[in-house]
Amino acid sequence: MSTDLYCVMGNPVEHSKSPWIHARFAELTGQDLQYVKRLVAVDDFARAVAAWQAEGGKGCNITVPFKFEAAALATRTTERAALAHACNVLRFEADGIFADNTDGVGLVNDITGNAAVALAGASVLLLGAGGAAAGVLGPLIEARPLSITVANRTLGKANALVQRHAALAAQHSVQLQDCELHHVSGGFDVVINATSSSLSGGEVPVPPSVLKPAALAVDLMYGPAARGFMDWAAAHGAVPRDGLGMLVEQAAEAFMLWRGVRPPSAQVLAELRAALD
Ligand code: ATR
Repeated sequence: MSTDLYCVMGNPVEHSKSPWIHARFAELTGQDLQYVKRLVAVDDFARAVAAWQAEGGKGCNITVPFKFEAAALATRTTERAALAHACNVLRFEADGIFADNTDGVGLVNDITGNAAVALAGASVLLLGAGGAAAGVLGPLIEARPLSITVANRTLGKANALVQRHAALAAQHSVQLQDCELHHVSGGFDVVINATSSSLSGGEVPVPPSVLKPAALAVDLMYGPAARGFMDWAAAHGAVPRDGLGMLVEQAAEAFMLWRGVRPPSAQVLAELRAALD
């Protein structure tokens, strides 16, 4: 039997941890696969996917900036990928391309599993309404918190995201509302930073009063990009968490989708953290 091929496509892609994570998953589950990085020119995504398929690729992960294009390219998508308007994993099938978005379920599994914090019944503040926020909102709703407030600098984008998810929220009895970033008030059990403000060296765009005592404060990024938000959260009595767990858990869901086998994600997260420290 030949080795199955997977890759991550992005631009930039050089620093992606996905090859390391999937190689470790494969080793630990005895799966015969090879996983590589593919740097794709920004105007060349569709051709790159077709070329990967022609080379024998079985599927791929998709990262910035191609998640939206990938969703549009797919012949079949999961409901959560359709709601997100974005996908991070493709599986090549005999009759087309199947697309999913595992970012949100990855975040939920990291919070409820690795961090052991309950989302059910919690009040959640989601900061941002761009691609990263859109990718996680559906699965956050499905985790049945009491409420989710989507706060964004540009209110219209938060409003559009909330409107799109209104039916799902009603179905799961979740109070879902939008809010302008500077008008957020009250405290929350879980605060999730899905803005890219730290990338431009910006301050955390909300007051510390949004953090209930011992709230969980998760940044979807990791490394230096998450530092500012995490330091702010810790300084105000919250429990900070970066996006490394979400990264490993979204990969675990992709691995399941491709291979039908659940990898030991908590072990791989611990190993990755140790390697990065
Ligand atoms: P991503 O894929 O990382 O989500 P994006 O789609 O460009 O990137 O979205 C970036 C998010 O960060 C948006 O919610 C953006 O707010 P706007 O919709 O108002 O642009 C938010 N953001 C970026 N810089 C910010 C800043 N300095 N303060 C507050 N929010 C910021």
